[in-house]
Amino acid sequence: MCGINIICGFYDMYKYSDAARSTISWRLIGLARSAWAQILLAVFIGLGVTLINLAQLSITGYAIGQMFSGADVSVVLPMLLIVALMIILRAWLTYYKEMIAYYIAAGIKIALRNRIYVHLLALGPGFLEQRQTGELLEAAVHGVETLEIYFGKYLPQLVITLLTPIFIFTYLTILDWQLALLLAIFFIAALTAPQWLNSSARRERRRHWAAIAELNSYFIDSLQGLVTLKAFNNGKQRGDEISKRATDLCNAIMRVIGINFAYIGATNLIMTSGAALALGWGAVRVTQGTLSIDVLLIVLLLGNEIYKPILELNTAYHGGLEGATAAGGIFNLLDTVPDVANAPDAASTPPSAPSISFEDVTFGYDKGKRPALLNLSFEIKPGENVALVGRSGSGKTTVVNLLLRFWDPQHGRITLGGRSLRDYALETLRSQISVVSQDTYLFHGTVADNLRMSRPDATKEELEKAARLANAHEFIKALPKGYDTIIGERGARLSGGERQRIAIARVLLKDTPILLLDEATSSVDAENEAIIQEALDRLKQGRTTLVVAHRLSTVINADRIIVLDSGEIVESGRHDELIRAGGIYAQLVSAQRVS
Ligand SMILES: Nc1ncnc2c1ncn2[C@@H]1O[C@H](COP(=O)(O)OP(=O)(O)OP(=O)(O)O)[C@@H](O)[C@H]1O
Ligand SMILES: [Mg+2]
Repeated sequence: MCGINIICGFYDMYKYSDAARSTISWRLIGLARSAWAQILLAVFIGLGVTLINLAQLSITGYAIGQMFSGADVSVVLPMLLIVALMIILRAWLTYYKEMIAYYIAAGIKIALRNRIYVHLLALGPGFLEQRQTGELLEAAVHGVETLEIYFGKYLPQLVITLLTPIFIFTYLTILDWQLALLLAIFFIAALTAPQWLNSSARRERRRHWAAIAELNSYFIDSLQGLVTLKAFNNGKQRGDEISKRATDLCNAIMRVIGINFAYIGATNLIMTSGAALALGWGAVRVTQGTLSIDVLLIVLLLGNEIYKPILELNTAYHGGLEGATAAGGIFNLLDTVPDVANAPDAASTPPSAPSISFEDVTFGYDKGKRPALLNLSFEIKPGENVALVGRSGSGKTTVVNLLLRFWDPQHGRITLGGRSLRDYALETLRSQISVVSQDTYLFHGTVADNLRMSRPDATKEELEKAARLANAHEFIKALPKGYDTIIGERGARLSGGERQRIAIARVLLKDTPILLLDEATSSVDAENEAIIQEALDRLKQGRTTLVVAHRLSTVINADRIIVLDSGEIVESGRHDELIRAGGIYAQLVSAQRVS
């Protein structure tokens, strides 16, 4: 354990051993590495302020001493003028120092946000499914925000608190070593004494963060499911739970603040006792004639200065350690290794032909613990239109997920144009494939923004052409502002069928050789389905297509139908062949009464 509580707090990180905590502290400082020149400047200015302070207080003490001993105003006045100038200079430098510190903090926050976002993208769906949105938001938004106090206030103050006393004590020792020694003993006591609060402080901060994450996650989950909650008349129950979690958070905050004030109280008590003792002892020595009044005044004024950094550090302490605790969560996130990553020699040249093959592919979610596909082998030739059917949970969407390399199979390999998917850069691979799935995600923004997601440089004419082919142009034109209409989060202001047609137009714009359709029409009614099916048929032309469908009427014309059952291929062939075979496909068809 470290000896000084304030420094120890600096190493105080949520969930980590002492060794790991210190590594994280260095990593946190490492984040500021690119700004070392500004940091150095801020520290120099901070020390400059201290020196001005020393000079200013010495002159003040001397001037007051002179006045006591009856000196003329003309002697004292210039000294007071110099003191006034020093106060102005100090204020200006302090402002400058604070601005630099916050500037550094802002830079670090921007860089860190970028890193977190890029990393979350790399971690992909496998990671996101295991975490709650609120928890991730806590690390990426609030957590990063707390680092502002860490870098803007806490860290610079920590450096100043450690360096300033060296100057002041050296100077004090020259003036009077006995009083310097007394003040030094109380200074060290003020730094170390509240150490007994450390373990409970750490525990309470940890609880505080857990309470924030819990409230956030629950709140976001409730907002996202608001419609469902209302439909089930479950709103009140959910509200009560939110209020309970808010109370838990409030209690956690109060405990943290309580400990923080205990720190400040204990430090204050020791410092005041030190100053009082020094004054009493100094006064006795002045009456004995062993100490001049000037020196006593200077020592007492400087005594205050020694403690000031501790007081300031105490006020920044709470926020700073919140930042350090949050950093634990942020580094945890950044240290999570993505399941799927670019190979060092990954190719960024597209495949020679859009053919796909699964070669003895076995895959299970949760690192193989939940088997989904077993020894799967099939091939799709360039331009071929293959359908994948099977009961719910048979592994159809998993095939789509593997093709996009959201996960890698545990055994076997998948190839595109004869080369393993792992040999392509992820961006190259995904630039070759488009997906239309059952629940299309549209972002908050205009129709045009959402369409341009797949091709940012598309002209208005190109947008309209794609929308026409997707049977979407008419309804888009009828929206209040046409292509410039805001469609709300998740496209909430559109119907399911309209969202689907925008998704198709988006894919038409992307214009990739490979197309994956996963239940693209299953969430819309029959009339909509016909319109969407027509758009999909246009989309399929000239592309290698894999269609996943429950409604078998949509796959009758496929070049080949593959039937999956419990992750294995049980049948494969054209519609009429499979009907004649009288297997699972024929059963599925007769259950849907498709002729
Ligand atoms: N992200 C996931 N994590 C863990 N298991 C999963 C995940 N996604 C799917 N599974 C499991 O893998 C199996 C295959 O799921 P998959 O989504 O591929 O089925 P599907 O054929 O697409 O079903 P449906 O027709 O209902 O969409 C199921 O048992 C499912 O519970
Ligand atoms: Mg599915």
